[in-house]
Amino acid sequence: MPTALADAPEGPPAWSRRQWMVRANAPVACWLLLLIVAAVSTTTGRVGTWIPVHILGIGVITTSIMVWSQYFTARFTGIRPTRAHQLRQLYRIGAVNAGTALLLAGQLPATASHRLSLLGAGLVAAGAVLHGFSLAAQYHAAERTRRFLPIVGVYVLATVCLLGGITAGTLLIIGVPGAWVPRLYTAHLLLNLPGFVGLAAFGSLTLMFPAVWRTRGGDDRTVSAAVILGCGLATSVTGALAGAAPVLGAGLVVYAAGWGVAALPWLGNVRDVLADPRDRLTFAAFAVVAAPLWLIVGVLTAAADALRGGDVAVSLPVLPLLVGFGAQLLIGVLSFLVPSVIGGGPAAVRRGMGLLDTLGLLRSTLLNGALALLQLPLPRDPGPVPAAFIALSLGAFLPLTVTAVVVQRHRPQEAHEPGTPATATGRHRPAYAQVVVGLIVLGALTALILTGVFGA
Ligand code: HEM
Repeated sequence: MPTALADAPEGPPAWSRRQWMVRANAPVACWLLLLIVAAVSTTTGRVGTWIPVHILGIGVITTSIMVWSQYFTARFTGIRPTRAHQLRQLYRIGAVNAGTALLLAGQLPATASHRLSLLGAGLVAAGAVLHGFSLAAQYHAAERTRRFLPIVGVYVLATVCLLGGITAGTLLIIGVPGAWVPRLYTAHLLLNLPGFVGLAAFGSLTLMFPAVWRTRGGDDRTVSAAVILGCGLATSVTGALAGAAPVLGAGLVVYAAGWGVAALPWLGNVRDVLADPRDRLTFAAFAVVAAPLWLIVGVLTAAADALRGGDVAVSLPVLPLLVGFGAQLLIGVLSFLVPSVIGGGPAAVRRGMGLLDTLGLLRSTLLNGALALLQLPLPRDPGPVPAAFIALSLGAFLPLTVTAVVVQRHRPQEAHEPGTPATATGRHRPAYAQVVVGLIVLGALTALILTGVFGA
């Protein structure tokens, strides 16, 4: 039986799940649009890659993690947020977003200012601290016997990593002695990507992986995997800060092993579904498999770098981690969850899911294939097409969501709980032909690149 947070005995009733989600997610939609503008501006050299990286990293991914970690925390603790609690969540999200805008403004050539950036970083940190405390308070208020409660602990740990990452980034902006720059840079990447985003993703996937594959979950390994991930991360960050590359590399190997432990039950889910796929192979299903793979490969690449070269300035591959892992996982999971949040009853949700899965396997193939192509040591310039494939495959989410909202809201409302696997996309077998078309397109693109069509 859900209990309400105890701070508002009277006052306006809490917003419905959908009303709150619309308010909390509004900044994410704005940042996604701005990301397109910023990404195009980098190709003309008007802004550096730092700007789109942080629009995606903080504006899109951090805000979404704040929204969804709160959403799942309410479900896992059984504590229903009151209107006052919801308002405080919106203020925290507002602080992070206002801070992001200031941080970015401080880094733009036209408005460059250290003070502006530091003020922005301070606001982002304040929003993150309050978010962490709020999750921790809900954890403590919940009954200890609740099955998914450890995941709330993982969200708190992820927020601690974010704060460490913000601290390292802020010190880099303030300026530190030369030897500390590569150490803090690596620590910033480790704490933000495998740390904050990685742990939040691991926590959510514990529940979401079987839900997205629409099958039953396997063993619960949340605590054992979280301990291994936490130890690996702490070791690698310590190694980075101490300038000890072998310690950094060893920590990353342990971290990757933690994902292996977490993913074992998911392999069983995939095996079961592949034996009888029906309509269960979707963009979302592929995303929850491909995204952790990009993370594991990225982390092991950096580990090999550290163990071989003995330098803490390891090359954590930013594009695979931020886009292949972070953005793909976010868009994939949202493609599954958003129709349920829009609601309108099982038939409407099914239509929404089908819409959000439009050309799902083609988009998935082009996205991951183009990302892989960009990681290869190609002898010729790959040109703009692979990046366009990546942007279109992920960016299609925005117009598809708008269409799903319009279509689903034209039906009478019925209750439906997000994350429950009761709905399907309405197809009867996987669209394997889309994978074949995607592979042919990628093969043709590779041939064009190798013949030097896009430059030497
Ligand atoms: C207030 C928060 C943050 C501040 C102050 C900050 C600051 C910085 C700074 C100073 C750099 C180094 C730039 C350079 O010298 O090349 C950097 C790089 C980077 N940051 Fe952040 N950052 C913040 C949050 C984040 C978050 C939340 C993420 C991801 C989730 C993130 C991801 C990255 C990445 C991927 C790079 C490497 C960019 C590249 O090499 O192209 N940052 N950040």
